[in-house]
Amino acid sequence: MASFSENLKLFSDQQSHVLSGLMDLTYRPRRLRRTASLRSMVRENNLSPNDFIYPLFVHEGNQVESIAAMPGANRWPLDRLVGEVERAWNLGIRSIVLFPKVSEALKTEDAAECFNEKGLIPRAIQLLKQEMPEMTIMTDVALDPYSSDGHDGIVSPDGIVLNDETIESLCRQAVVQAHSGADLIGPSDMMDGRVGAIRESLDDEGFEHVGIISYTAKYSSAYYGPFREALDSAPRGNSNKPIPKTKNTYQMDPANAREAIIEAQLDEQEGADILMVKPGLAYLDIIHCLRQESQLPIAAYNVSGEFAMVKAAAERGWIDERSVVLETLLSFKRAGADLILTYHACDAAKWLRSSG
Ligand code: PBG
Repeated sequence: MASFSENLKLFSDQQSHVLSGLMDLTYRPRRLRRTASLRSMVRENNLSPNDFIYPLFVHEGNQVESIAAMPGANRWPLDRLVGEVERAWNLGIRSIVLFPKVSEALKTEDAAECFNEKGLIPRAIQLLKQEMPEMTIMTDVALDPYSSDGHDGIVSPDGIVLNDETIESLCRQAVVQAHSGADLIGPSDMMDGRVGAIRESLDDEGFEHVGIISYTAKYSSAYYGPFREALDSAPRGNSNKPIPKTKNTYQMDPANAREAIIEAQLDEQEGADILMVKPGLAYLDIIHCLRQESQLPIAAYNVSGEFAMVKAAAERGWIDERSVVLETLLSFKRAGADLILTYHACDAAKWLRSSG
């Protein structure tokens, strides 16, 4: 009777040497996955707090207000904002973006509050620049937080979101933000030609050193739901004219990819310094695509709905929040993003530190 080892040899000869470990493989990708040190040596992408832009909501009240669908993100009163931004700085975060919850009484059809020099955002920028001059401050340029119609542009009496008429307000808004000390102006309105017009206005007013991070490929997405709740900024029919219920006539159709390249080319020609894709997660292909098309830095916006989904599943114990967040943020880097706007910024910076 054949011995065990003879049997094994016979078997492995027949079965491509599997059991004896003698498969004739030249390439064994697992060699470089064997230890943590090897894995870190060949890692193609890394996350750093320097990659993050931390979005913050501000309001006129004097309480820190929580936002139901965005656990951990708050509406900050100005006198608590500096403390929160200092916390981010101490975690290694070097950039923030501000969004205002504007009192209902200040919202109008022409959204003129958006260029009020004494408005909430100009005051927030001035305060932060005074206390923390090194922190990069990005702003959002669009009318929606200030519009009684809840649109990013001016809505005509027959319900059209007007392009060219809106641009003047956007330019005024951008100049006021730059004057207050903003480092990067972020047009999120998706009006045609706004990047070039804002660039010209900034230059005319002596702000040639202020950059533009353009929401280049901004899709008409249901993932913005929690953000609109945070600012109470969704389109609404509270006036005597027809108000479009969606932003589909200016934000991009989620079905389109080639169109993102057109937007990117226009933004580059018009003088954008950084291109952004928004939302990020369902649009990783678009990030990848713009990375191939442009040499400019690319930013991904990990938007409110993406944040809410992770938080909701983590709260139920269905996923491990830390692992899912770090994996998600890394996916933006892998797709080709240099920068990530994320509400997870402080948590992620903390986790990166403890895993470092
Ligand atoms: C405003 C603006 C929106 C977001 C950023 N700037 C909402 C929208 O376009 O309706 C969404 C951010 C998020 O969901 O986290 N123009």
